[in-house]
Amino acid sequence: APSDHVNIIEVGPRDGLQNEKQTIPLETKIELVERLTETGVRTIEAGSFVSPKWTPQMANSSEILEHILQRPPPSAHPITYQFLAPNAKGLDNLLSVYNKSSSTQKRAPSNAPPTPPPSPGAEQTQSPQIDLSIFTAATETFTRKNTNCSIAESLERFQPIMASAKSQNIRIRAYISVVLGCPYEGPDVDPHKVAELAVSLLEMGADEISVADTTGMGTAPKTATLLKTLASAGVNSEDMALHFHDTYGMALVNSVVALEHGIRTFDSAVAGLGGCPYSPGATGNVATEDLVYLFESLGLRTGVDLGKMAEVGEWISEQLSRRTESRAGKAFLAR
Ligand code: HMG
Ligand code: MG
Repeated sequence: APSDHVNIIEVGPRDGLQNEKQTIPLETKIELVERLTETGVRTIEAGSFVSPKWTPQMANSSEILEHILQRPPPSAHPITYQFLAPNAKGLDNLLSVYNKSSSTQKRAPSNAPPTPPPSPGAEQTQSPQIDLSIFTAATETFTRKNTNCSIAESLERFQPIMASAKSQNIRIRAYISVVLGCPYEGPDVDPHKVAELAVSLLEMGADEISVADTTGMGTAPKTATLLKTLASAGVNSEDMALHFHDTYGMALVNSVVALEHGIRTFDSAVAGLGGCPYSPGATGNVATEDLVYLFESLGLRTGVDLGKMAEVGEWISEQLSRRTESRAGKAFLAR
């Protein structure tokens, strides 16, 4: 039976902020990552090594990674920070920061004996795990608009990137965008194309596939059809995360459908921030606070403190001069 623990991947600092038009100060981004680390969430997508011409808001991701490695935010449990890279240049930029820090700070190889567990509740500083997120999409037009290449070319780009990341003990998550609707090719995206890509990416060495409803066009029946198609193609639910944007307010419903199909990893953004600059009209990710509230209402455990997450949601929304998009966050703080 699937576990009663759900992994939340907090993508607020990356997906949440990448589409903001106003320049967000580096200090605010770092403070967001630090505050999120204190909520109990175990994985945070903290930045993106993409071309600054394509996504200017992510331009200072090197500084964020450097800060995380040199002054890891204290955390009571092991924590992973993910960074996007679309090509070899992105990974080179990531690795130059990563290797600079690891030469001054001894990093444990993956086959090292486990360090003894900390005393319960003790805050400690440990070297965080850094993971790489690569991304492609289920339609040719979206892939071209987002990364200026074909789907096949995107896979070719990944081959050397994945080999090089693996050799450095960096795990790889691979996003497949527009799985339930494309802003350019319409709402009917072929689920077999998604499954074929997921199988290829896993065979190439991806550790996890994030199946992304970029546009929020997903509905419960479409989600069920997609997950059945993925299962028939041999993709295990443990190797997948679901990544819902909430444009039409269907993300929570679709998450329940995904739970019923055995999915136990979900991406979300605090305060429901987010959007992809190359997906016109699409809005934020499902709010982390709402997902946590949903899962706990179903008797599942997330390890995330809803109150703390709601406070981070209020704080970052204030920094961005807007209201939080999280219903559960608002309600929790109004109690
Ligand atoms: P291109 O223009 O074809 O790249 O873009 P190029 O190789 O021809 O290089 C052009 C210039 O960019 C050169 O600089 C390169 O050095 C530079 P110049 O010589 O002109 O001064 N460059 C870079 N600089 C920094 N970092 C790099 C990099 N690569 C090239 N990595 C490219 C191709 C892939 C680079 C571009 O299309 C790109 O950066 N795309 C990313 C767009 C993006 O950020 N999208 C949002 C993230 S994905 C997403 O949000 C979806 C997700 O949330 C899931 C979902 O919801 O669907 C993950
Ligand atoms: Mg996204």
